[in-house]
Amino acid sequence: DPQKVQPRAFPPFTPIDPTGADALTLPRGYRYQVLAPWGETFTPDGRTIGFNHDYVGYFPIDMLQGGKSSTEALLTINHEYANPMFVGGDTKARTPKQIQAEMQDVGVSVVRVRREGREWKMVMDPRNRRIDAFTPIELTGPVRGSAVVKGATMVKGSVGNCSGGQTPWGTLLTCEENVDGYQKSWEGSGYEAIHQGWVTEIDPFDPAWTPKKRTGMGRFRHENAAVTLARDGRVVAYMGDDMQDSCIYKFVSRNRYNPADRNASRELLADGDLYVANFGNGSWVLLDYARNSKLREAKAGDKPLFTSQAEVLADARAAALAVGGTPVDRPEDIEVHPRTGDIYAALTNNSRHGNFFGQIIRWSEKEGDPAATSFLWEVFAYGGPQSGFASPDNLVFDPYGNLWMVTDNSDLGTNPIKAFHGNNAMFFFPTEGPNAGKAYRFAVGPVDAELTGPVFSPDGRTLFLAVQHPGEDSESLDKLTSTFAAREGTRIPRPTLVAIEGFPGWRGQA
Ligand code: FEO
Ligand code: CA
Ligand code: CA
Ligand code: CA
Repeated sequence: DPQKVQPRAFPPFTPIDPTGADALTLPRGYRYQVLAPWGETFTPDGRTIGFNHDYVGYFPIDMLQGGKSSTEALLTINHEYANPMFVGGDTKARTPKQIQAEMQDVGVSVVRVRREGREWKMVMDPRNRRIDAFTPIELTGPVRGSAVVKGATMVKGSVGNCSGGQTPWGTLLTCEENVDGYQKSWEGSGYEAIHQGWVTEIDPFDPAWTPKKRTGMGRFRHENAAVTLARDGRVVAYMGDDMQDSCIYKFVSRNRYNPADRNASRELLADGDLYVANFGNGSWVLLDYARNSKLREAKAGDKPLFTSQAEVLADARAAALAVGGTPVDRPEDIEVHPRTGDIYAALTNNSRHGNFFGQIIRWSEKEGDPAATSFLWEVFAYGGPQSGFASPDNLVFDPYGNLWMVTDNSDLGTNPIKAFHGNNAMFFFPTEGPNAGKAYRFAVGPVDAELTGPVFSPDGRTLFLAVQHPGEDSESLDKLTSTFAAREGTRIPRPTLVAIEGFPGWRGQA
């Protein structure tokens, strides 16, 4: 059992230097293969892999039978947004057909994969499918049918799919992050902004189950949902609101998880309590209109800020700030340590107050119970020239409890990072021992790209990683900054999922 092996004080690779090369650069002895690039056909009805891969979920193919296959799985891939230049081919005159292509290239891909010999392959399967900006999705929780959504119970599509999470019962939580721009960009397609910005639950094993927006988890720029279980079996999800000076949240389900009842499990996230973190006194503050008088007393001018729980959830950021939630520097991904239960969060940067490099923080819940209402926190690692990383984004733990992190320096423009960082990269951190918090560079992405979605197979042997937006800052199709993963005979770079292997120190341990 890999979880019983002590974490290594040193990484299982020779760290690499920063580079600006248009390549996915890995340490000696490691190799990658392109597994699920944008545009590849993978469903029985001819749908193709979407654009700009972000979060990747790994669902062992035998998971519902209690297995944890490391050689065959249903993968879920978030597609955060579509680049009109690459998807449409012409940014100047976007036709309705091009807008439709963009709307079909976002959302989520569910794809079966199998390891055959040394190679991973996409495998045709009736469960392979696309969730896109057109897919019917059900609203659940307090906002369903409320005035906030003009009585709506069904909505169209899931967009801005950034990071996410997996539940113990084998569903995906895909998180709708930067949803603000879509309404304008897709004008005329009947797009409602209030229908986006939620956490959407999707069952990769059951295409007949309508995806559900979990409004009880609030509406904000949802980065992720890190799921764990409270001592008493309630489900807890930690979530970041990726915006400057925004907060960290947790959702605690009303009912307890029963592994023997999957149908009941699939309803757990419809009902529960939402809290916001106060890092001043280390407490979780309840965002409930009936039970927190501060929400009833909050005013905008001389009018009440909220009149119902649906309104609180629909503008959770305003509610959080009204009750003393602590604004932090853009909370990106959050993960729960598989052995210690500590929670790690990436605070990526905040140019508004000169935090260009970011930090990774961690906290422990009181008595180790995820449902606790108080916690102790500390900084785990600081970005900057000394540590070598900047702008931490996605996090993932390997089965041994080491932390892996990818950076996203996309939005900072001219800044002090380029001098030491090179292209966006992936780093390894021991979480315990003398080197805890020390960053070791494992991978560097191609030009303009960000590495996203890292997830390990249960045996720690394969790392699935996504290469997002290579060549994004290209001026035109004639002046490409990257040709990464271009189709043979073409030059247009493609976002893709890759499978990385070669972890020599781990072979035989898992
Ligand atoms: Fe889509 Fe906050 O990264
Ligand atoms: Ca992110
Ligand atoms: Ca993650
Ligand atoms: Ca990102």
